[in-house]
Amino acid sequence: MTERISVIGLGKLGLCLAACFAERGFKTLGVDIEERVVNSVNQGNAPWFESGLDDLLVKHGGKTLRATTRHKEAIEQTDVTFVLVATPSNPDGSFSNRFVESALRSLAEALRANPKPQHLFVISSTVMPGSTEASFIPLIEKYSGRKLNQGFSVCYDPDFVALGNVIKGFLRPDLVIIGESNSEAGAQIEAIHHQMCENQPAISRMSIVSAEVAKVCLNAYITTKISFANSVANLCERIPGADVDAITKGIGADKRISPHYFQGGLAFGGTCFPRDTQVYMAVAERYGVQADIIHAVDKVNHYQNQHLAETVLRELEQVENKTVGVLGLAFTPNTPVVVESPAIKLIAELLKHDVRVVAYDSLAIDNARGVFGSAVEYVESAEACLEQAGIAVLTLRDTEIKKTVENFAVLQPLTVVDCWRMIDPKTIAGKMKNVVIGRFQA
Ligand SMILES: NC(=O)c1ccc[n+]([C@@H]2O[C@H](COP(=O)([O-])OP(=O)(O)OC[C@H]3O[C@@H](n4cnc5c(N)ncnc54)[C@H](O)[C@@H]3O)[C@@H](O)[C@H]2O)c1
Repeated sequence: MTERISVIGLGKLGLCLAACFAERGFKTLGVDIEERVVNSVNQGNAPWFESGLDDLLVKHGGKTLRATTRHKEAIEQTDVTFVLVATPSNPDGSFSNRFVESALRSLAEALRANPKPQHLFVISSTVMPGSTEASFIPLIEKYSGRKLNQGFSVCYDPDFVALGNVIKGFLRPDLVIIGESNSEAGAQIEAIHHQMCENQPAISRMSIVSAEVAKVCLNAYITTKISFANSVANLCERIPGADVDAITKGIGADKRISPHYFQGGLAFGGTCFPRDTQVYMAVAERYGVQADIIHAVDKVNHYQNQHLAETVLRELEQVENKTVGVLGLAFTPNTPVVVESPAIKLIAELLKHDVRVVAYDSLAIDNARGVFGSAVEYVESAEACLEQAGIAVLTLRDTEIKKTVENFAVLQPLTVVDCWRMIDPKTIAGKMKNVVIGRFQA
């Protein structure tokens, strides 16, 4: 039974994974090159916001979960090492393995100097399919002086979690996919997941390369589904009486479709979906295969951002107060991350048209400020945003924003662009103009 686990890379995912291991009884060592992160973990403080992370670090930071900058300790003090460092996108859409390779090299060199008979390396970063066999295993062999399945084993164990929900995603996943260099290694990782998960996920074990391909395929499939729902939403805006929610809910009951991630509205964004779409195209191209569906997904997603900007600019022509209030800056609720966020794309387009923008988000203002600096005015509440706006764009599915809009005492004409159909039209009837994405507008 595995008792001691290390996690290399205490980033948005790795720190949550390490905290979940600690929570489920593993003695956990986290390794990162950033001293700030390491110190913060050892003091029991979350270095950034992720739902539930604070509580786990208060409980385990500096105790069951300890952090260090020294990779050597992972080899000396633990038997299994998860590598979950960043794999940034290259200009052609492929992923760079440079951080994974650098981490593996430090670990393998430490293994060479260590007498222990075995170590299990688990790659969890999203990588280009084929990377583990073509690059990571030869690298470990070279720097450790050992042979695969003799002095060390390797698994590929990708994560399918979403920012804003990472801890729940690790503790209660729908599925686990394990690529294995030998069946004992795969069984060991399966046992770790059984101990870590509070539920009984579907666990599939396969070759390492199949697991690498599976990771890229899952997100490509979800973005295809989101884009289909967005296409239906666009159709509904033109067909009198049509309502995208009625349709996706109705047909989503079919098991072949399922209702999850099937709600038309805004483009997908974030640190994963857009770049995983690009990587699917890069992989297809590398192997000489056409990936027309995914090219179409990419196109639909760009169009969806453009469609929102066009809708807002069109409404802007009809109002006197030309200030646009954007309520929600993150790419999804419950996270400060603004990477590829539809709200950020909208603001960039509005600024190109010299529109004055006032923005609010409960978590993401600092990150948005990093993008736009003082070109946008940021306010501390949804209400303050509505007070200044001629048009208010509701980009996040967020109950606080919904309630504030529904209870807002309007003093000047206001148009609300409701991107997720959150607002109960009865609550604002006669007070505000309601423009609804995904529903026919007379
Ligand atoms: N963010 C997501 O939603 C998500 C979801 C699924 C999978 N992934 C994948 O997980 C991986 C990690 O993503 P993330 O968002 O957590 O990245 P991140 O950028 O938030 O964190 C990466 C961490 O690795 C550390 N690091 C870099 N090189 C290191 C080294 N040699 N040794 C130790 N630490 C090192 C960095 O300091 C940083 O703290 C990526 O491959 C990503 O594609 C991300």
